Parts: sequence; C-alpha cells; structure tokens
Amino acid sequence: MASSLHSLYFFLAIFICSSVHAANVPPSNGLVLPVKKNVKTSQYYTTLEMGSNRVTINAVIDLGSQFLWFSCDSYTSSTYNPIPCESQKCEKVKGFGCIGCNQAPRPGCTNDTCIASPYSPFENLLYSEGFAEDTLYSKNNMKVFELPFSCFHLEHLTGFASIAIGMLGLARTEISLHKQVADKFELPDKFALCIPSDKGVGKIFIGGGK
Ligand SMILES: *[C@@H]1O[C@H](CO)[C@@H](O)[C@H](O)[C@H]1NC(C)=O
Repeated sequence: MASSLHSLYFFLAIFICSSVHAANVPPSNGLVLPVKKNVKTSQYYTTLEMGSNRVTINAVIDLGSQFLWFSCDSYTSSTYNPIPCESQKCEKVKGFGCIGCNQAPRPGCTNDTCIASPYSPFENLLYSEGFAEDTLYSKNNMKVFELPFSCFHLEHLTGFASIAIGMLGLARTEISLHKQVADKFELPDKFALCIPSDKGVGKIFIGGGK
C-alpha cells in the first residue's frame, strides 16, 4: 500500500514538474532546494542549511513522512530552541507529552520538551525525540524561521544513503516544509519535485509556480 502510494505521488510530482518548467517560474517565487539521487540506494535527497551556523544537512526525501528530522550529533546553532511540552506550540505541532534527557544539554537533549515521533520508513519504526525549531536557509535566499523539526540519533539511520543524516518529510501535515512555507510566506501550499537522472541535479519548488 505504502509503496503504491509513493509511486502515485511520484507520478503526480513529475507531471506537476513539467508544468512548472513550462511556466518558467523565477526562483524567487518560492523556496527552491536541490534534489540528487544516491545511485546505490536509489534514494533521492536534498541539501538544506539549518541554524545560525548554516550547518549543511543531506536529507532523504520522503513524501509519506510527517516532518523534517536529522541527526543533531554535530549540530550547533544559537537559534535552536526546543519546543516546550504543554505549550501552545506543542499542541500546534501535534506533539504529545514530555520528553527529557539525562545528559548535558545540547540540541536534541533537553528537558520538558514536546515529544516528536519521527518515522523511519526503512525500519518501519517510530522513534521518540523532542521537537525543536530553527531557521532553514535555502540557496535562493529564503529563510524559514522557526521551522519545527526533530533531532534523531545517528545510530538509528539504518537504511539511509550514507551521505544523508536525516529525512525531509513532505506529507500533508501542519509542520511539513511546504505547509510551513505556505503559512509563513502566504504562498500556495503546493510543491513540485523534479527528480534528476543518476548524475543530474533536480529541484524541489515549494510554494512557487503561481
Ligand atoms: C534534566 O533534569 C534532570 C533532573 O533534574 C537533570 O539531572 C538533567 O541534567 C537535566 N537534563 C538537561 C539536558 O538539562
């Protein structure tokens, strides 16, 4: 079921993609991210920059996952903020309950944090992590402030292309990147995914193509 849904989405995405090309949309008309293919795993991934230090993150694209999550093991950022549990924001991101951490505080290890449940499609497992927010930067000069995401433990990255440390979920949720971009920039909630050949570079257009 899941895999047939995925192929349907890919079909739709390719279709939308050609109409975007025809309209020749300027990149400023939405958030644009690159897409590459990892040939070994056939996974498509994008490259994001996150936080005040603009840490580069390769994230596998999953049309069925709820939000962005990545390993924060070497992540530092002065604009990183955990989302407190029992807060309005926690309710908005549909977190439930509180998660803590018994080590020294760092991104991905804070007390009284709103629980996120990142889903690994490779293992078919949901994990418990804390929700956080930080700024996402794109190469076409868009900044998405306070983008909700969760950290994830490096050792749980089973099945991922080795170049990737996380996942960009593009499902129809309140906190997927396209919904966040639509809300924050008053753009239409739509995206197009132009997937590349083995060696090419494709693009995701988010909120553009008016
Ligand atoms: C969380 O609280 C416990 C108990 O007060 C404390 O030992 C621990 O260091 C705290 N963790 C963080 C990340 O602040």
